[in-house]
Amino acid sequence: MTEDLFNNKKDIYFPSYLGTNDNLITLLNRTSQTLCDWFSKADKNGPLPFDDNFKCIMPEEDGSSAEDLFSEIESLLNNSFNPVHPGSLAHLDPPPLIFSILGDLIAAGLNNNLLAYELSPSVSLLEDSLCKWFAKKIGFNDSSGGIVASGGTLSNLNALIAARNNAGLSSNPNSVLLVSEDAHSSFIKCMKIMGLDAKNLVKIKTDNQGRMDINNLRKSLDRCLTENKKILAIVATLGTTVRGAIDPIKDISKICKDRNIWFHIDGSIGGIFAVTSLPIEGLNNINKANSITINPQKIIGITKTSSLLLVSNMSTLKNTFSTGLPYISAKKNIINRGELGIQGSRPAEVIKLWLGLRFLGLKGIEEILRSSIKRKEFFIKNICKNTFELYSGPLHIVSFLPKTLSPEETEFWTQEKVNELMKNNFMLSRPQFKGKYYLRAVMGNYNTDESHIIKLLNLLNDYL
Ligand SMILES: Cc1ncc(COP(=O)(O)O)c(C=O)c1O
Repeated sequence: MTEDLFNNKKDIYFPSYLGTNDNLITLLNRTSQTLCDWFSKADKNGPLPFDDNFKCIMPEEDGSSAEDLFSEIESLLNNSFNPVHPGSLAHLDPPPLIFSILGDLIAAGLNNNLLAYELSPSVSLLEDSLCKWFAKKIGFNDSSGGIVASGGTLSNLNALIAARNNAGLSSNPNSVLLVSEDAHSSFIKCMKIMGLDAKNLVKIKTDNQGRMDINNLRKSLDRCLTENKKILAIVATLGTTVRGAIDPIKDISKICKDRNIWFHIDGSIGGIFAVTSLPIEGLNNINKANSITINPQKIIGITKTSSLLLVSNMSTLKNTFSTGLPYISAKKNIINRGELGIQGSRPAEVIKLWLGLRFLGLKGIEEILRSSIKRKEFFIKNICKNTFELYSGPLHIVSFLPKTLSPEETEFWTQEKVNELMKNNFMLSRPQFKGKYYLRAVMGNYNTDESHIIKLLNLLNDYL
């Protein structure tokens, strides 16, 4: 028999299509063990990296041994932020759901591509069905659906480009987008990508609860009209980044309807609450929107990345993004999903969303969300009100500051507190907001229980 011309390391480089893949199974078992060891090390070490010595070793002439690579994987883990620790309360980055971790593994092994149906038949159907399931849950009708993207920024951008196309504005430099002054900073990035700039982003003042002020919105719209500006969309934020406020969705939707303006909801933080029956103040009428971003990675622990753009009418996405894929065969009545958004090739990451949701069920989703609200309420109830001023809407985020500090003093105070809390294994964030620095606790960590919050409160109340 002649020697194989092309390769002789089949089951070392790639999974074998023959036999049992013993080598791969051994490596997967070892990887699982290494990961689980790292999770449990968090107990002793806290949310921040245990080590500060990660060496980024680059590929060399010869490939590395499995031993060397496992030692580098361990070092990478030990030098990483650990979201499973209960003191990890800084950001919208909760612990990973177990079935989502498995979904990521399966997606990597499948290596299917959501660009086209022929490259991902089952997963394309899954993504379509899951988006429709979400759309129905929030009250959209049969013509609705959606597309998955990496995060809130990209889902919002998909929506804005569709809105602009729908309004027939194309590259009109007079196009403006209206958002609240507390909307996420990534809308500036969206403007830049769309060939517009910061002045095309009209920021509407908020009320004392951090919600878009409707009178201000009306005045701004009238001003835009007199200045011959073209409105490409109005965005309501369903859960602002610093305090979790919800803009007045019903009022904004009415204005959009009356004036024939695309209504987008940035529900990156709060959108997921809409699939449950939890009584969240202001969370109604979201089905009046043309589009909504929902970002299940931010609270319920679907592993990154996992964000959805839902639209009330799927043809808006197709009309905006479809170019045809001349090198890919089409299946009758099935649109290749690379034709529905900005991204082309995409991994089968919807699997981790699907497995995560199937595993939790609606009851599990609700349980995680309810517990995050309860944690915040407990925190607010027990923090010293004489000392701190608090900023929090109906969701699970709270920002706070001692009342006595001047704006200039907040920078130093918050930095000191973050450092001191860190020594006690609590990680809070330090957002800048309206000319001051704040401390922010994001209470979406399911591993955080009452005893941890009591400890955090004691530390905060003691520090003053
Ligand atoms: C309200 C809101 N919208 C959008 C984003 C951007 O999301 P991503 O970082 O997933 O792109 C964030 C991020 O925290 C956010 O809080």
